[in-house]
Amino acid sequence: MKSLNLQLRFLAPLIVTLVAAAYFALPLMDRLTLRWFARDLNMRGNLVTNTLSDSISDALSDAKGARLQALFDRAVQDERLVAIGLCSLDGTMLRRTASFPRSLDCRQALAAAEQPDPRLRLAGGAVHIGVHTVDGEAGPIARLVLLHDLSFIDRRSQDTRQYLLLFIGALGLTIALITVVVAQLSWRGWVSGVRGLLRGEGLLRPVAASPEMAPLAAEIRARMRDLEDEYRRAHGPQTGWDPERLRALLRTQLQGDQVIVVSNREPYIHDTGPDGTVVRRPASGLVTAVEPVMRACSGTWIAHGSGSADREVVDRHDRVGVPPGRNEYVLRRIWLSAEEERGYYYGFANEGMWPLCHVAHVRPVFRESDWEQYRIVNQRFADAVVSEARGEDPVVLVQDYHFALVPAMIRAKLPRATILTFWHIPWPNPESFGICPWRREILEGMLGSTILGFHTRFHCKNFIETVDRFLEARIEHEHSTISFKGEETLVESYPISIEWPPASEQAAWPTIDECRRRVFERLRLPATTCLGVGVDRYDYTKGILERLHAVERLLEKRPEWIGRFVFVQVAAPSRSLLEEYQSFQERIARVTERINQRFGQPGYQPVHLLAQHHEHDAVNELFRACDLCVVTSLHDGMNLVCKEFVAARDDEQGVLILSRFAGAAREMTEALIVNPYHVEETADALHRAATMPPAEQRERMASLRMTVRENNVFRWAGHMLTDAGRSRLRERIEARVERHRVE
Ligand code: G6P
Repeated sequence: MKSLNLQLRFLAPLIVTLVAAAYFALPLMDRLTLRWFARDLNMRGNLVTNTLSDSISDALSDAKGARLQALFDRAVQDERLVAIGLCSLDGTMLRRTASFPRSLDCRQALAAAEQPDPRLRLAGGAVHIGVHTVDGEAGPIARLVLLHDLSFIDRRSQDTRQYLLLFIGALGLTIALITVVVAQLSWRGWVSGVRGLLRGEGLLRPVAASPEMAPLAAEIRARMRDLEDEYRRAHGPQTGWDPERLRALLRTQLQGDQVIVVSNREPYIHDTGPDGTVVRRPASGLVTAVEPVMRACSGTWIAHGSGSADREVVDRHDRVGVPPGRNEYVLRRIWLSAEEERGYYYGFANEGMWPLCHVAHVRPVFRESDWEQYRIVNQRFADAVVSEARGEDPVVLVQDYHFALVPAMIRAKLPRATILTFWHIPWPNPESFGICPWRREILEGMLGSTILGFHTRFHCKNFIETVDRFLEARIEHEHSTISFKGEETLVESYPISIEWPPASEQAAWPTIDECRRRVFERLRLPATTCLGVGVDRYDYTKGILERLHAVERLLEKRPEWIGRFVFVQVAAPSRSLLEEYQSFQERIARVTERINQRFGQPGYQPVHLLAQHHEHDAVNELFRACDLCVVTSLHDGMNLVCKEFVAARDDEQGVLILSRFAGAAREMTEALIVNPYHVEETADALHRAATMPPAEQRERMASLRMTVRENNVFRWAGHMLTDAGRSRLRERIEARVERHRVE
């Protein structure tokens, strides 16, 4: 009896305490649940906004909203997202889904979202209202209003309440049935259980301890890591791109995976010179762009060893550390026989694919024997990738038209590799591409890529249309993806660029006056000369002939420039074994001679043709010495010469004349944009550039410099690798879900 009394004495206050706890805990729990869900909804809102920001920015700039509308409509298929509205910064409703209440305008939405309890009552029930700023390249461009359904919160809150009451009831019953001692013990156990739960142990540890729940616990942990990744990505710093940011991206989103680059041209060429081995940097836009990225990322670069002393410096695995003396990454050289080089490089790549993709009025030549060599060499490079790969899912960056078959060849041996293929030259329309006898094989090879990058949207569109014409593939225009043989390829534009010269490099440059003095002295130019320069590979796509015609026309129609205007053309010999290139070079030499004879005077030579390779410092000196730089490509994927010129002009002087057929013309709108086929227009642009007041030069140059500094090559690589990271994340989740399903 005494013991019963004792137990009752203990139980009575306990039951009273439990009832009181339930009384106070329920409203508290409701408030907490609401706050948690509100925070959750805000995070979801930020994610949705970040995902849509590019499309919104595109839609705002090109005034096309159909794709955006489709995105909005798809987004609201999520049962919790009720409606989306897009407001301009001044509060005008630009676009909304059909479900967005007509009575709610942007101002009301903003005011409601700023309330401590941002809830609205609509006919269909309560909604949470969130307003998120959409950022473009140069800051906020619009606001996204998201209405989330709150009815599920009410439902959950009711459920929670029921469970809590049940739990308290059950606990009371249990307590009533067991002894005070057991009750006391239970009480202690419960307290420590709650403590453990609060530490997160209850959630995973006991579950993991039971073997049948282990896969689920592992799945939850992995999913949480993925969500963290996603969250980090969504909230990543929006500062400029530099090597450090690229490295951080590799560490976090690609988890430090190995990076392998494949290109035909190697970044450093060892040649035998009169005084021993010399190292040369090739004239190649591809190398200019990819080399700084590799220095930032480390890894392995596989390329054709084309230098006469290349074999002397490699180890027994044909590897050499580069840049020489700094060894920041590994260059793995592949040796080609003369026959392979003739068929694959000179033949199929440069007599076939190059003129095919550059619509520059030189006929592509396709030979069966070249195609054969192309296939063999592509397979050799793909095998080299496989042998260099340390794991089963390296990140492989395949470069350019030399390796259209490599992506599918790698995919066949390393199905889990992330293959990013970048096409550095234009992609023609389906009719033009259709003349290639092996068009299907080329397209199938390229579709082995996870991501296929071009410089412009226009080239992406051409590629997608070409696939549509020649292959049985599923194309999703909205997402710019192509599914072929069960694999998906994202086709995206990533405008390439240069590394903005680091401050330490700029500090070491000779001054503008010094560069001008040296160049003028070397070419024996009077100080009052207006100096124009062009720097290109000696290639028929670069519009060198058209440029010379424009110089000739300038001197013809404005004779006041005779004796005062000089044009220096640097032309680095390229692919000179090919007849088309030889005859082009001869033609340029003839036209130069003709102009010089026609307008030259004692002590005055209007055109200086420097037909030899110039190293970076020499080119930089010319860029800093001149008054104007001329880029008149007839067709060019991007063209990096114009970006290098702009980077060289820290005095914000000098004028850029740029062909509208170079991809760069889309970004560098402050240049004088010309149609190089229109000689008169280009001649007028030369005159305008030569007479442009310094203030206007400064204004244009300052803006161009800002564009190139921000859109540098680390941003190019960063965007591609971010997309690659996202694709890997998706694959990881899909693989896990699949594993789980099978188990
Ligand atoms: C273009 C191509 C590059 C190539 C470069 C130089 O920029 O896109 O792949 O490296 O020309 O040409 P070359 O044949 O000398 O490598």
